[in-house]
Amino acid sequence: MDLVVLEKALIGLFVAIMVAITVSKFRGKRFKLPPGPFPVPVFGNWLQVGDDLNHRNLSDLARKFGDIFLLRMGQRNLVVVSSPDLAKEVLHTQGVEFGSRTRNVVFDIFTGKGQDMVFTVYGEHWRKMRRIMTVPFFTNKVVQQYRQGWEDEVAAVVQDVRNSPEASTTGIVLRRRLQLMMYNNMYRIMFDRRFESEDDPLFVKLKALNGERSRLAQSFEYNYGDFIPILRPFLRGYLKICKEVKERRLQLFKDYFLDERKKLASTKSSNNNALKCAIDHILEAQQKGEINEDNVLYIIENINVAAIETTLWSIEWGIAELVNHPHIQQKLRHEIDSVLGRGAQVTEADTHKLPYLQAVIKETLRLRMAIPLLVPHMNLHDAKLGGYDIPAESKILVNAWFLANNPAHWKNPDEFRPERFLEEEAKVEASGNDFRYLPFGVGRRSCPGIILALPILGITLGRLVQNFELLPPPGQSKIDTSEKGGQFSLHILKHSTIVAKPRA
Ligand code: HEM
Repeated sequence: MDLVVLEKALIGLFVAIMVAITVSKFRGKRFKLPPGPFPVPVFGNWLQVGDDLNHRNLSDLARKFGDIFLLRMGQRNLVVVSSPDLAKEVLHTQGVEFGSRTRNVVFDIFTGKGQDMVFTVYGEHWRKMRRIMTVPFFTNKVVQQYRQGWEDEVAAVVQDVRNSPEASTTGIVLRRRLQLMMYNNMYRIMFDRRFESEDDPLFVKLKALNGERSRLAQSFEYNYGDFIPILRPFLRGYLKICKEVKERRLQLFKDYFLDERKKLASTKSSNNNALKCAIDHILEAQQKGEINEDNVLYIIENINVAAIETTLWSIEWGIAELVNHPHIQQKLRHEIDSVLGRGAQVTEADTHKLPYLQAVIKETLRLRMAIPLLVPHMNLHDAKLGGYDIPAESKILVNAWFLANNPAHWKNPDEFRPERFLEEEAKVEASGNDFRYLPFGVGRRSCPGIILALPILGITLGRLVQNFELLPPPGQSKIDTSEKGGQFSLHILKHSTIVAKPRA
C-alpha cells in the first residue's frame, strides 16, 4: 500500500517537474521581451524612471534603448514605440490587436469601467458607440451646420477683446475668453446651448467640475496605487474624491442639459430635423435600446474632455508661437489680407484658401502636440511587435511627439517654422498620411474630432490675427512657453497675458 502511494507520489512529482520544465521552456521561448532598464522586484523600473513619463523623457529613453522598449511600472507593463514603422504596426497593420485602451484605477471611475467610447476596449461596445456618435458629431454635414455658429462665437471674442481697455495696453489672459468660446462651440453642437458670459453660474460650475476631473485623472499622484496593487488601500481618499467629482459631474450633465433637452424635445414636433442637435440623435439610439442612459452621460463626458480642452490647448499654443514669432504672425496676416481683402472676416470656407494658415496650424500641432503619446493603446492578448513578445494587457504608448520631432526625420525640428509644410513636407497632412506626423493618431482609434478641430482652429487663429496684433505684455520680449504634461496630455504651463492691439 505504502509502495503504491510512494509510486504515485514519485510519478506525480515527475509529471510536475516535466510540466514545470515544459512551461518554463515554453515561457522562456515565448517571452522575448523588448529591451529596457533592468527591473527590480516589486517596483520594476518605477524608481529609476520616476512618475513623469512625458514625451521628452520617453524620447531620451528611446535614444538609449531603441525604437521599442519596455518599462515595468510595478506590476504594469508599459511598451513605448518611437519609430514610424512600429507606429504603423500598432495603429494600422495590427490595429485590431493593439486597438484596445488601458484604464487605471482613476479612469475606471471616470468612465464607469469603459462604458464610454474613448476608454473602452476594442470590440462590440466601441463599434456601436463610434457608429452612434458619427452622424451627430463627426461628419462634414455637422461642420456645415455649425460653422456659422463658430464664426459668430469668434466674432463675439473679437468684439469683447476690442471692448476691453486692458487688452491693448497691459494685456489680458486671452485663454479665459477662448475657453468660453470653445464651450459654446461644443455645447451648441451637443445641446443647441450657449453660455452668455464667463460669469454664467452654470458655465462656472461646469468648468470647475471638468477642470477637477482633468486634474485628478492626469495627475501622477495616484501612480503608486495603480502600479503596486497592495498599496491601493492608501489611495482610498483619492479615489473617494474621484467618485464624488464623477457623480456630481454626471448629475450636472443630466439635470441641466440632458433632462432640459428631453423636456424641450417633448414639447416640439418630433420629426423636425432642422432642430436636431447631437444629443437628440444620441437619445434616439437610447430609445431604440442600442445604449442606456449611462452610456448617454458618458458620451457627454467624453466630448467635454476630448473636444474642448484639446482644441483650446492647441489654440493657446498657436497664439503663443505667433506672439513669439512676430514675423510669422505678420506673414499670416499678410496672407489673409491679400487673399480675402482687408476687412473680410475669415470663414470656414476661407480657411481652405489660406495655405499659410494651414501650415501654421500643422506646425503648432507638430511642435506642441496636445496628446503627445496618443491616448494609451492596449493589446488584450499576447502579441508580437518589432520581433518582440508583448504580454497581454500591456499599455502601449506611441510617442507621436518624438515621431514628429526626431531630428533624424525632420529638418531642425526644434524650430517653429510653418514653411516646412509648404516646402519639404508639403505632402504631409494632419489626418495621418505620414507615420511621422500623427497629432490625431491614425487608424481605428484615431481622433474622429479632427473634422471639427481643424476648422475651429483655422477660424479662431485666422480671426485673431486679422483683427489684432498679438504681443507679449509690456516689458517682456517673449511669453513663457514652458510645458505641463499629465498622464498623456500636454499644455502650456502658464496661461500668459497677451496684448491684443486692434488693427487700425
Ligand atoms: C486639436 C484638437 C484635438 C487633438 C489634438 C486630438 C487628438 C486626439 C488623439 C491623439 C486621440 C487618440 C488617438 C489614438 O489613440 O490613436 C484622440 C482621440 C479621440 N478624440 Fe480627439 N483631438 C482633438 C479634438 C477632438 C474633438 C474636437 C473631438 C470631438 C468633438 C475629439 C474626440 C475624440 C474621441 C471621441 C477620441 C477617441 C477615439 C477612440 O478611442 O475611438 N477630439 N484625439
